[in-house]
Amino acid sequence: MSQPTAITFAPTDIDVLATTTGRIAIIVTPDGKLDKAARRANRLTRGAVERLIESDGFAGGKPGRVIPLAWPTGMVAEALDVLVLERRCSPIAARKAGAALARAKGDKALLVMASNMPRAGDLALGLALRDYRFEVHKSEAKSASGAITIHHSRDAEMTQALAPLMAVAEGVSMTRDLVNEPANVLTTTEFADRLAAMTDLGLEVEVLDEDELETLGMRTLLCVGQGSDSPSKVVVMRWNGGEKDAAPLALVGKGVVFDTGGISIKPAGGMEEMTMDMGGAGVVAGTMRALALRKARANVVGLVGLVENMPSGNAVRPGDVVRSMKGDTVEVINTDAEGRLVLCDVMWYAQERFKPAAMIDLATLTGAIIVGLGHENAGVFSNDDDLCKAFLKAAQASGEGAWRMPLGSAYDDLLKSRIADMKNIGGRPAGSITAAQFLQRFVKDETPWIHLDIAGVALISKESDYAPKGATGWGVMALNRLISDLYEGE
Ligand code: BES
Ligand code: MN
Ligand code: ZN
Repeated sequence: MSQPTAITFAPTDIDVLATTTGRIAIIVTPDGKLDKAARRANRLTRGAVERLIESDGFAGGKPGRVIPLAWPTGMVAEALDVLVLERRCSPIAARKAGAALARAKGDKALLVMASNMPRAGDLALGLALRDYRFEVHKSEAKSASGAITIHHSRDAEMTQALAPLMAVAEGVSMTRDLVNEPANVLTTTEFADRLAAMTDLGLEVEVLDEDELETLGMRTLLCVGQGSDSPSKVVVMRWNGGEKDAAPLALVGKGVVFDTGGISIKPAGGMEEMTMDMGGAGVVAGTMRALALRKARANVVGLVGLVENMPSGNAVRPGDVVRSMKGDTVEVINTDAEGRLVLCDVMWYAQERFKPAAMIDLATLTGAIIVGLGHENAGVFSNDDDLCKAFLKAAQASGEGAWRMPLGSAYDDLLKSRIADMKNIGGRPAGSITAAQFLQRFVKDETPWIHLDIAGVALISKESDYAPKGATGWGVMALNRLISDLYEGE
């Protein structure tokens, strides 16, 4: 698994400015103020930093921008990266600035002079999040990313603050690895093995196989995987860091390792993207990893339904009727609306077994959510205003876009089937909402619930503020923060 780049804090020492050969970042404020290190760099370069600030190019130096001065005279550094940032900036601004530095850095070593910066921890998080690369399938020799050192006046305190942030970065990194991995590598079995390996971190992990799922009556989940040679699995991960008998939060993820559409097969163009259709399960896994690494004081159970949606001689057909674990029957009109068939059984199982205090499911569920919200926001559906508000707040504080969408019985009516209790699609209008309505039929009245449709945000084709192109890991930070807000308050 790709580990986030090593980041260490060191005591302030501005003498290294003259002797360091790698890249060095200094901070100047948008109105052109220099701190001690920046002043020293300015002296060494005989005024290059000041000339930069006075130049037209700098005017109104946009916060978060990095202006690299290559091979600065008077220094032995390869580049002096001038970071424009307010000393007392917001956590998100600090994180974005860190990401901008990581982008400029490439795979070089980097020294950051952030002596008095209160938000140096968030800066480090931004560096770690943006310094991610997925290169396991590149044959060319890969150079490891150079180490990052941040000089800070309170380096011991910063080192302590960094640990839980790096736990989250490592969770995000795991999610991205899983989502980026192609389906011939990340089979259902390989996915389950990677989750089982997390017992090393103190998580309890159980893998349920097809026989056990059959006994439990999870026919809607099993029908999705029945056309594939890869066996369907449900993996249960438990982190019990909270009060002994406190009901857990349940996180449920859609883990379709590849979605061909099944017999209702998808068009060829772009189908390769469907390796990311396990994104919900990936976020659940990454969040559980972060919780274990930072030893969260909360009880959380993560459940993922791992299946592959393939056409074959024994694949589920349009028109087939299957019975869910709950007991309701579903007419499968379109085999490409498979995510809800997987989730409904795992959600029901989660509630029956764990009586969770709340349940959040995540899924790359509908193309329609991309039509509605693009790649900026995930769709948020909920039966509980308080829980929903808390989640939206956590997402906003994490810089992860999220937008609430409606539910309502008129949408639910669109799921009526002539021959079964419901059908698995509601037609073209409001496709993301009818998908959520389908799921809500498997949510008990007493369970506060959020459904997150992450089809648009799990994978992006251009880099974002904190992620390179490809898998983003969207949701790990928001969920981690929600858990800390809800269960770990003093
Ligand atoms: N996995 C897809 C949704 C998806 C689409 C995710 C694009 C990421 C990018 C899902 O299983 C699916 O195929 N949904 C169908 C539902 C339809 C058949 C009702 C869709 O969105 O077209
Ligand atoms: Mn599908
Ligand atoms: Zn799908």
